[in-house]
Amino acid sequence: MITIKSAEEVGKMRKAGALLHQVLEELQKLVEPGVTTAYIDQIAEKLIRDAGAIPSSKGYEGFPGSICASVNDEVVHGFPRNKPLREGDLLSIDCTLILDGWQSDSAVSVAVGKADAETERLIRVTEECFWKGLEKARAGNRIGDISAAVQQHAEKNGYGVIRELCGHGIGREMHEDPSVPNFGTAGRGVRLRPGMVFTIEPMISQGRYQTYIDDNGWTFITRDHSRCSHYEHTLVVTTGDPEILSYPGAALRRFPE
Ligand code: MF3
Ligand code: CO
Ligand code: CO
Repeated sequence: MITIKSAEEVGKMRKAGALLHQVLEELQKLVEPGVTTAYIDQIAEKLIRDAGAIPSSKGYEGFPGSICASVNDEVVHGFPRNKPLREGDLLSIDCTLILDGWQSDSAVSVAVGKADAETERLIRVTEECFWKGLEKARAGNRIGDISAAVQQHAEKNGYGVIRELCGHGIGREMHEDPSVPNFGTAGRGVRLRPGMVFTIEPMISQGRYQTYIDDNGWTFITRDHSRCSHYEHTLVVTTGDPEILSYPGAALRRFPE
């Protein structure tokens, strides 16, 4: 069931999103060679709890972290660990929190220190995929318009689009309807209406899109061990431009064809 959020509910989700944005900004500053993702996770939990919010990933179906920390060929749902990051690694930080009963979900990918040009390009194109999808997040359009825009931009750049995981509705629950795939056909799927809140979250690999799940039962890894980047925001469909709840003040950006 897709719920339409009232202006008051969107207001609460805006506050949750603003906090999440702040947290992710702080966490990115910690990323450097030698730092562990367990440390970044610890800081994330403290920042979230000190702000009166709850890290919703922690304990979610047994997940151990307040962030998902996925390195290099790990796609998503990486466990925070005590292994130091190395120069040139690609780190995705995905964080979900609840403030005043409302969820927000956002992820960023960053290079650890100086990474090779191909890693930088992967990170950049994955973010571009998000903005391409966002442009389609307008009342009257359909979910497939978003999916197709993300897929086209990734594949035009020679990348793989992860199939197993999708964007999703979000509200009081972390995962609500509808599902927002990163691949699909324009003109298909649920029609968008003002007040729908969901994530767009491209997961893009340098090589093929197939994955397997690690022995820990959680972490998706590319089968060909190519690197993967993830970028995610929570947004609301309006009567005009979409509003990115997890990125206060973000303007709708456009990228050249
Ligand atoms: N933040 C993830 C998403 O984008 C879900 C986290 S799974 C958890 O949907 F187990 F870590 F909570
Ligand atoms: Co997420
Ligand atoms: Co999500």
